[in-house]
Amino acid sequence: MIVLVLHIFTPHIEAIKADGATEALINSICIENEDYGFCNKIIHEKLKVPTATIKELTSLIIYTTMDHANDTYIFIDNILREWPVPKETTGLKTCHEVYNRETNSFLEIRFLFSKGEYGRMGEAILSTAKILEDCRGDFLIPPYKEPLIEKKRVMRILITMSAVSGHMIKNEKASLISSVVTAQFFNI
Ligand SMILES: *[C@@H]1O[C@H](CO)[C@@H](O)[C@H](O)[C@H]1NC(C)=O
Repeated sequence: MIVLVLHIFTPHIEAIKADGATEALINSICIENEDYGFCNKIIHEKLKVPTATIKELTSLIIYTTMDHANDTYIFIDNILREWPVPKETTGLKTCHEVYNRETNSFLEIRFLFSKGEYGRMGEAILSTAKILEDCRGDFLIPPYKEPLIEKKRVMRILITMSAVSGHMIKNEKASLISSVVTAQFFNI
């Protein structure tokens, strides 16, 4: 009984403390991210073991990004079916299609990763940054305010993390690609 209670009250996600070399990799992935804290936190939440190579971290980030794209696709799908906001239907349909494409792109990226085709994988990741721009996101959807703004922000961060981490498999320096992804593709 006590075990059960403890289990229930233990937070669902427990962050693991990574070793020094792994922390250094995580730091390199996140250092130039628009939200260092979020980047660092989400990797630690998903990390199951204290030691990970750059390939393992990249795999973890790609899966996380695909899941976020898919979750957002389903979120928009539910809005369109259950709480239609007529004024926003066209924009929502565009975002619905955008997150469908993002999910499919990350399925392809996962495949390229598994084949070790890191060059093509990098190009595919950069194209997802462009796809994302088509979803405006500033929809007022009661009872939420503008839920797609935050989901887009998270997607943008995850895409940048995927690009930087994937780039690091072949190149030690992440800073160059980080600024390329952020400035060129996201116009910020
Ligand atoms: C997307 O999410 C749904 C519902 O959780 C799941 O059935 C489906 O397999 C997911 N698709 C991908 C590509 O992960």
